[in-house]
Amino acid sequence: MAKVRLESIERRFQNVTAIEEITFEVPDGEFWVLVGPSGCGKSTILRTIAGLETATSGNLYIGSRLVNNIPARQRDVAMVFQNYALYPHMTVAQNIAFGLQMRKIDSKTVQQRVSTVARSLSLEHLLDRKPKQLSGGQQQRVALGRAIAREPQVFLLDEPLSNLDAQLRDDTRAELKQLHQQLGITTVYVTHDQVEAMTLADKIVVLNGGRIQQIDDPQTIYTNPSNRMVATFLGSPPMNILPAKFTGDSFDVGGQFLPCPEDLRESLHPVVGQNIDLGIRAEDVYISEPLRQGGTLDEFPGLKNQPHLSVQGASRTEERQKGELVVEVKVVEPLGRETLIRGSLPSGILLNVQAGAGVRPRFGDQLSLELDMDKLFVFDSKSGDRIIRN
Ligand SMILES: Nc1ncnc2c1ncn2[C@@H]1O[C@H](COP(=O)(O)OP(=O)(O)O)[C@@H](O)[C@H]1O
Ligand SMILES: [Mg+2]
Repeated sequence: MAKVRLESIERRFQNVTAIEEITFEVPDGEFWVLVGPSGCGKSTILRTIAGLETATSGNLYIGSRLVNNIPARQRDVAMVFQNYALYPHMTVAQNIAFGLQMRKIDSKTVQQRVSTVARSLSLEHLLDRKPKQLSGGQQQRVALGRAIAREPQVFLLDEPLSNLDAQLRDDTRAELKQLHQQLGITTVYVTHDQVEAMTLADKIVVLNGGRIQQIDDPQTIYTNPSNRMVATFLGSPPMNILPAKFTGDSFDVGGQFLPCPEDLRESLHPVVGQNIDLGIRAEDVYISEPLRQGGTLDEFPGLKNQPHLSVQGASRTEERQKGELVVEVKVVEPLGRETLIRGSLPSGILLNVQAGAGVRPRFGDQLSLELDMDKLFVFDSKSGDRIIRN
């Protein structure tokens, strides 16, 4: 096993810069995930590590060895793609063994490795089948098995679960995590799926437009995103973004005013009178009361038990700072454990609210919301950079 180090890696295709200033080091045995929207350069980075792509500039190390000019097959890495073609005329066992036989490994060792891999991926009962007699998920497990059997220094996975249906994707994701815990092989995993990134990674590298946006552990990425792109890409539903103007003591959100918490005022002084973007997650927005004509809480099944901000997680003496906004209910999505409400501000901006399981406001209802202002993010509306950092 080995660490993987990228130093200022850049890759240009004619006049397109696919990736630039890519610098990070995956410590030996860790599982890192590269995540970002389609076209942001994830596969280019992975293929560069594998040696299937040559960097235009920069240095790449596997272990302590500089591998810039080392061909793919001598790098001791194994890569699995989204569409990893198995040999159709070979059985599962032969497919897993093939790469080992090519390396002239003795047949006893080959047999041992095939059975160990088959056991850890639950493929034992399928060893004599041909690929076309397997489901998509089983085929992908064989592809993983073939890579694992090689016992590489580094494991590179490019969207390996994308072709699987939802249930299988969840199961295989959990298996992958378990497998990594058993084998401890340094892994770089590429996905556009933020759930995979959050659940699998020791560290997440968020990419956009060929550049690194942030490198952190999943929880830090979620609670302390470095910019608007990271804030809205990781987490479901995505963080709410509210265009606003900072007046000096409050935020003007299309004519509704949120008080600016005292402790933020000084750091926001440079943007008085300017347009900014406020960010707040759905779980930090609470329903305060319905505003329908003559409406009472009784009209809103489930709402009575809805936690209010002033009691949520705070003792009576340290009431949270809150701000209020009124929205019109556009969509109500019951999700079993919770209800996701999408409300519209008069400007048309939608605000996601995570409410209790039984809350069922109706389309067109006016809802008054309380925002936990201690959980507010402020971004530069042009660059998307965080203006205040925790
Ligand atoms: N062989 C190539 N020739 C020209 N442009 C390429 C080539 N490979 C990738 N690109 C460009 O580089 C960028 C990053 O691509 P890629 O790494 O495949 O992104 P991702 O895997 O994140 O979807 C894209 O704009 C893509 O069009
Ligand atoms: Mg890709």
